[in-house]
Amino acid sequence: MRILSIETSCDETAFAVLNVRGDTNPKFTVEANMIASQIKLHAQYGGVFPMMAKREHAKNSIPLLTQTLKKAGLLKKKKQTLSLRTSTQVLEILAREEGLGEAFITFISSYEKPKVDRLAVTVGPGLEPTLWVGISLAKALSLAWDIPLTPVNHMEGHILSVLTQNKKTFSLNTQMFPALSLLVSGGHTELVLAKAIGKYTILGSTRDDAAGEAFDKVARMLGLPYPGGPEVSRLAHKARTKKYARTCILPRPMLTSKDFDFSFSGLKTAVLYTLRDRKELNQGEKEELCREFENAVVEVLVTKTLKAVEKHTVHSIIVGGGVAANRHLRSELSKQARKQDVSVFFPEKKLATDNALMIAIAGFFQKPKPFTSTMFKANGNLHF
Ligand code: KG4
Ligand code: ZN
Repeated sequence: MRILSIETSCDETAFAVLNVRGDTNPKFTVEANMIASQIKLHAQYGGVFPMMAKREHAKNSIPLLTQTLKKAGLLKKKKQTLSLRTSTQVLEILAREEGLGEAFITFISSYEKPKVDRLAVTVGPGLEPTLWVGISLAKALSLAWDIPLTPVNHMEGHILSVLTQNKKTFSLNTQMFPALSLLVSGGHTELVLAKAIGKYTILGSTRDDAAGEAFDKVARMLGLPYPGGPEVSRLAHKARTKKYARTCILPRPMLTSKDFDFSFSGLKTAVLYTLRDRKELNQGEKEELCREFENAVVEVLVTKTLKAVEKHTVHSIIVGGGVAANRHLRSELSKQARKQDVSVFFPEKKLATDNALMIAIAGFFQKPKPFTSTMFKANGNLHF
């Protein structure tokens, strides 16, 4: 089976092609995994504006889809004529996506239907206006090519991104499950018990800001570019190598609470107060503040994850989402997990942030639905 997947839940337009052979012990081959990032555009404004992101997705979709299929060796030029009925339906589906309808018709009428057996698309959680671009495009493709379509939960994608084990060709490592998954991104901070692929229970989540969001907000306070996570982490790392003394102490919110919930908004406010009290910070002080902030976030994440591991018998810890790229989190969690004799799986950096390969993997494990199904509706707050 060959799956073509689409991801547009935030500020990355992404497509992937995944080939899966065999049922009992499926073997996966990544044939293409492409991303058009909008980071540079949003960096000018210090954050993502949904309507601007939506327009970018609509503009970049067809060119990136074309490149993706080309990369996978699936694109053959051939003039096609769409029936009047199909083109009318397609244009209706894409009516709200600026310029996409015309680009779609030109694309579809220029190439042969590719050898793809299934389409998969993110339906949530995420920004609804941007999710709609991917969903509408997926529906239009499903209609025009007559290929079944599967709805995917973006967070399940983040969990399953570790299945690749950073290889182009991979088999399932079922030993990973049951697993405890720590999902940390710009929009989410969740501890999820993954008994098996497709069987998820949320143990706890953030009551306010997500971990990545806190990184982004602190970065903004310090005048660092968007997305803030990598920048704050870079400065924190400098402070660690220079071994600065600890002059500021930030709180570790909910570290000892009995549940598995998180809260990062108070920590962010504590950084704000520190900045207000200290007025001008020199570079060294900025680096030290970043280190203390990163230490606080990581300590809370690691402590709560290991507490959940103690309570639920699991084979492994799976980390997913943009903050999974954080080097301090990676080293601390690995160190602490080793003490509890549980293995930890992180996605490679390219798969930690949003991508379509993880959507194709999740799409493999779920049944397609007719593209007219109500499942194909953007759901910003989609839960497991
Ligand atoms: O999963 P993702 O690409 O998008 C969402 O679904 O939100 O995550 C993006 C988030 C941003 O908040 C970004 O600042 C954060 O992940 N991030 C990091 C690092 N790299 C990305 N946070 C901390 N350290 C990093 N190295
Ligand atoms: Zn994400």
